[in-house]
Amino acid sequence: MPKVLVIHGPNLGLLGRRQPEIYGNFTLHEINKHLKKLARKEKIEIKFFQSNHEGEIVDVIGEAKDSFAAVLINPAAYTHTSVAIRDAIGAAGLPCVEVHLSNIYARETFRHTSLIAPVAAGQICGFGIDSYLLGLQAAIRLVRPKRRLKLKSRRRSK
Ligand code: DQA
Repeated sequence: MPKVLVIHGPNLGLLGRRQPEIYGNFTLHEINKHLKKLARKEKIEIKFFQSNHEGEIVDVIGEAKDSFAAVLINPAAYTHTSVAIRDAIGAAGLPCVEVHLSNIYARETFRHTSLIAPVAAGQICGFGIDSYLLGLQAAIRLVRPKRRLKLKSRRRSK
């Protein structure tokens, strides 16, 4: 069974109480519960990690290299500052999906830059808890390429 590592960055442990008008009412525990349910349905294994410390996140990404197939990460404030997390993802060579609850491009200008995006397979933001659920689906498609959507090309009728 492919394993996906979910990493939550700084202050995400406060979700539910932290600026609900921006981040919604779900707690981190509830978000993880919904992710677990989706993982079970998709028959993948999922592990969670939350830290407020950049170095701990770097260490966990480095260790994930041999035991996980993909990383789903909300780097939170480190999105905009962390060369170290970006380099760790680049070095691990694991497919990575970046997610944000809020639409970082509709907020303060310092949030418009993600140092992580260039080393991620893609980024999903602005959909609240659905950013995580869509992000997990994207990660699953990356580790199970056969599952990618097969869009039929429309034949022109003669
Ligand atoms: C966030 C957006 C970041 O700018 C912010 O620092 C966070 C949360 C989000 O999920 O919307 O902590 O990553």
